[in-house]
Amino acid sequence: MGILDKHKVIETNATLLLVLSFLVVTIGGLVQIVPLFYLENTIEKVEGMRPYSPLELTGRSIYVREGCYVCHSQMIRPMRDEVERYGHYSLAAESMYDHPFQWGSKRTGPDLARVGGRYSDDWHAVHLRDPQSVVPESVMPKYGFLENNLITAKYTQDLIKTHQFVGVPYTDAMVENAAADFRVQADPDSDYDDMLERYPGAQVRNFDGKPGISESDALIAYLQVLGTMVDFSTFTPDASR
Ligand code: HEC
Repeated sequence: MGILDKHKVIETNATLLLVLSFLVVTIGGLVQIVPLFYLENTIEKVEGMRPYSPLELTGRSIYVREGCYVCHSQMIRPMRDEVERYGHYSLAAESMYDHPFQWGSKRTGPDLARVGGRYSDDWHAVHLRDPQSVVPESVMPKYGFLENNLITAKYTQDLIKTHQFVGVPYTDAMVENAAADFRVQADPDSDYDDMLERYPGAQVRNFDGKPGISESDALIAYLQVLGTMVDFSTFTPDASR
């Protein structure tokens, strides 16, 4: 029996074909996926990446709650048109503390992976309140209610603890000071030095310009840190990998 005849046996037996196809796809899949779990360098370590501060992480929860990811991606692909529009392509390390990640799959609005620092806090406050007042043709919904929803640090420590539990390297000091760190980041008159030591580069401001800490303060703090942790003027990809 020649090799072609042997193959005919497989091709004319649906069950056998199915079982063998399954085997081939399984082995192929494992060969591609398994090494990723064992290689140290699947996620290249990048200087500057730190866990989100309590206020930023709270803003991120609001981003997820409001479904901003339905219209916005956070993943700049390594293609020229994307890089020219949005900046340096996204590194794996930049979303390593994101649970769940916000890469998204739909761009009704622009990618937000590097929106941090692109606009003023005031622009964000106005835009969230009434997107059409800034961009008349915008289809983005109004989120003005966020600035009226004042929030306390009641659940902040739980939020940090949960992220610590799933592997984000929050230290015990970060967990312990979660509520205080949450409050001082939105209050430039407070003593925020310890918070800055725990979260280098965190921006301390009254983000929405209104008294009290609201959901829009947290959300704007989050938007303003997006894509800013890695300094791309000094970053060089490791060519040995
Ligand atoms: C229905 C789709 C939709 C949803 C939901 C949505 N957006 Fe938008 N967003 C847009 C569109 C379209 C634009 C571009 C026009 C504009 O600036 O308003 C935009 C623009 C933006 C911009 C400016 C980006 C840039 O680079 O110019 C930011 C920031 C933003 N959205 C944040 C958010 C946040 C935060 C949420 C959730 C609270 C959200 N969006 C929800 C559609 C949406």
